Amino acid sequence: MSAVIRPFRIDDTEAVVTLWREAGLTRPWNDPYRDIERKLTEQPEFFLVATVDDAVAGTVMAGWDGHRGWMSYLATSDAQRGTGIGRALVAAAEHALEAAGCPKIMLMVRSDNDAVIGFYNALGYGTDEVRVMGKRLIPDA
Ligand SMILES: CC(C)(COP(=O)(O)OP(=O)(O)OC[C@H]1O[C@@H](n2cnc3c(N)ncnc32)[C@H](O)[C@@H]1OP(=O)(O)O)[C@@H](O)C(=O)NCCC(=O)NCCS
Repeated sequence: MSAVIRPFRIDDTEAVVTLWREAGLTRPWNDPYRDIERKLTEQPEFFLVATVDDAVAGTVMAGWDGHRGWMSYLATSDAQRGTGIGRALVAAAEHALEAAGCPKIMLMVRSDNDAVIGFYNALGYGTDEVRVMGKRLIPDA
């Protein structure tokens, strides 16, 4: 793996949205462009991309709310899967959050996404038996 991990830059936008679409992370009710715009207003330094030969090959969006850290939009490009970029992105997000004083990192995975659950288990993540609840405040669509 010869990837470089660095903070997102605005000219990464199209490549990042394409990667998220290909990785199946976009949903009709979440506009990925608006998600990027919002993230750039809040802890943009925790929005990381991995590049290989200057091309975007992975992303992770992390954040810290003063109690817990969160990770979302973890994805690697099809061509680069299995080469360690996913692990490196998670490690980079963990280091950034820990350096900020964050004691625990959380993430949400669909309960039937066995492949990603296996990936996170391999990285030391366990399942918390909680029900995730949410309420939309700003509709995107
Ligand atoms: C999840 C994802 C980011 C993993 O990225 P990746 O670059 O292929 O992961 P890595 O190559 O860094 O693999 C890390 C480790 O996890 C292991 N692993 C991956 N999937 C695994 C599984 N299902 N079960 C057990 N171990 C697994 C790998 O073998 C590797 O172990 P190693 O470092 O000891 O060799 C990638 O598959 C992806 O983009 N998926 C689609 C998007 C998605 O669903 N994201 C999560 C949203 S919650």
